[in-house]
Amino acid sequence: MTRANISVRADRIKPSATLAVSGRAGELQAAGKQVLNFSAGEPDFAPPSAVVRAVVEAAAAGPVHYAPVPGTPQLRAAVAELLSGVHGRRYSAAEVLVSCGAKHSLANLFLSICDAGDQVVIPAPYWVSYPDMAGLAEAEPVIVPSSREDGWRMQPEALEAVLGERTRIIVLNSPSNPTGAGYRETDLKALGEVIAAKAPHAFIVCDDIYRDLVYDGFTHVSAVRALGEELASRVIVVDGVSKTYAMTGFRIGYFAGPKEIVSAASRIQSQTTSGAATLSQQAALVALTDPSVPAEVEAMKDAFTRRRALVLEGLAEVPGAEAAPPDGAFYVFVDVSRHTGPKARHADDIQLAQWLLEEKLVATVPGTPFGAPGHLRMSYATDDDTLREGLSRIRDALASLPTA
Ligand SMILES: Cc1ncc(COP(=O)(O)O)c(C=O)c1O
Repeated sequence: MTRANISVRADRIKPSATLAVSGRAGELQAAGKQVLNFSAGEPDFAPPSAVVRAVVEAAAAGPVHYAPVPGTPQLRAAVAELLSGVHGRRYSAAEVLVSCGAKHSLANLFLSICDAGDQVVIPAPYWVSYPDMAGLAEAEPVIVPSSREDGWRMQPEALEAVLGERTRIIVLNSPSNPTGAGYRETDLKALGEVIAAKAPHAFIVCDDIYRDLVYDGFTHVSAVRALGEELASRVIVVDGVSKTYAMTGFRIGYFAGPKEIVSAASRIQSQTTSGAATLSQQAALVALTDPSVPAEVEAMKDAFTRRRALVLEGLAEVPGAEAAPPDGAFYVFVDVSRHTGPKARHADDIQLAQWLLEEKLVATVPGTPFGAPGHLRMSYATDDDTLREGLSRIRDALASLPTA
């Protein structure tokens, strides 16, 4: 009997849908087409100027050799200090692990905590990578749907229905990719009660990567504070510099949590990637500590605030498109289900997004890979002119379709 060349593990992993759209948009652009790209998952801003200067200086003066596996002592201490303030709980540097991006932190966590047969609870719509990461760790992703009517926030009853002995991790992502929805204190308290009653043994992994990018009076609420005293030591916070400081390419993320988990994840990291890039860690340290940085972050947030309003205004003119105003991140998640289905021109959101890209040259990401068919994710991490022109193309395109 011949064996497949590819492992079952690798074969199970789906390619990232978001990267696939960006790739196709790039191909069309390279062929001379003027694509308006609403698929970006990263800020269209430069990193803070102090960060850029620091990298150039550090490249010349060092250190540039291997960094310690769990992160440089300086960066771990700075992260511990920052997260202690955010979460109202004293973290030591030994409770922090620095990795190659928040994605790597999450993968390390799933691999450190889960065994085959364990369950990872993932609220939908979800960031595309969580279910595949759970699969990589041989755990079973358990999806908990939410609705636009509930502000895309997982409801306590829905969570309660899936919790049990096998629950090993509960993922919370606030504000969320793709919906921008954030959990308020009351939401978290209600979820905390359910978790404490039905799965106090589980870890709650909070993906806070969009924590700083919040709008319209919404403030990020720490799950460490809000889930309750009993669960605080089971909460692991994942954070990083990618989104807040427009440093996606530096690949620095981190988590803070129990030392036992930090140590396990560090062992996995030691035999896979080693420590994150030395220069990038130096850059992240500057992002977290240089006093000139917050003003530049605020300027970026002002731009996102303006664009968010622009997109919501524009969408109000699009027939058959409904969206809940997002609390944070830089995405709007649009219900286009009136334009999909057996009676519509397009069977599903994937076909609709393909048509918008190939025929109308507007790149959006279909909702299906986020666990929410009938939707499109639109990123407003792009300039105002692109947003205006793109929205007008979408309006004309959807207006031309017969609704189901
Ligand atoms: C919800 C969420 N978590 C984590 C990440 C990964 O961030 P990083 O670039 O630091 O790996 C992303 C990036 O798109 C994200 O949207």
